[in-house]
Amino acid sequence: MKTVLYPGSFDPFTNGHLDLVVRAGLLFDQVIVAVAVNSEKTPMFMLEERKELIEKSCADLPHVRVVAFRGLLVDAIVEYQAQAVLRGLRAFSDFEYELQMALMNRSLRPQCETIFMMPTLNNSFVASRLVKEVAALHGDFRHYVPAVVADAIEAKLAAKEGRK
Ligand code: PNS
Repeated sequence: MKTVLYPGSFDPFTNGHLDLVVRAGLLFDQVIVAVAVNSEKTPMFMLEERKELIEKSCADLPHVRVVAFRGLLVDAIVEYQAQAVLRGLRAFSDFEYELQMALMNRSLRPQCETIFMMPTLNNSFVASRLVKEVAALHGDFRHYVPAVVADAIEAKLAAKEGRK
């Protein structure tokens, strides 16, 4: 069985992420979405919340499994017996960071292969950070994320702003 590990912060999971998960399902038998502990001090969603939102967003995709991971990505690859790491590339600006990570992972574990996929053009500018910013400033963000994620963002913001 061919498995690819798709790691990220997913704070929150967007339609761009969903796009990649669907595309990867055409190439791999199993896509494991690996939710990392967020390096940001104050993520919008805690690890378990992020995991649950991805599970709900991918509920009708049988090739998808969602896990949380805390250590090194190269160790998660071994643990989940994945053949490759999947990362999304939206623009040139992503490339330097992604290249550095891919080469570091290969240096740590020479068998660690990273593959990159591009989302559809409509999703190519969608980033979790921008979605959070638009939502916090009361812009229309709902069409950039799965409905379940949009509801969760609204609930977070309402709680933060003292609304019901
Ligand atoms: O969505 P993000 O924040 O760009 O994802 C980054 C992530 C989680 C893939 C990266 O930080 C990572 O792999 N973290 C796990 C720790 C690790 O292995 N660090 C060395 C990577 S070069």
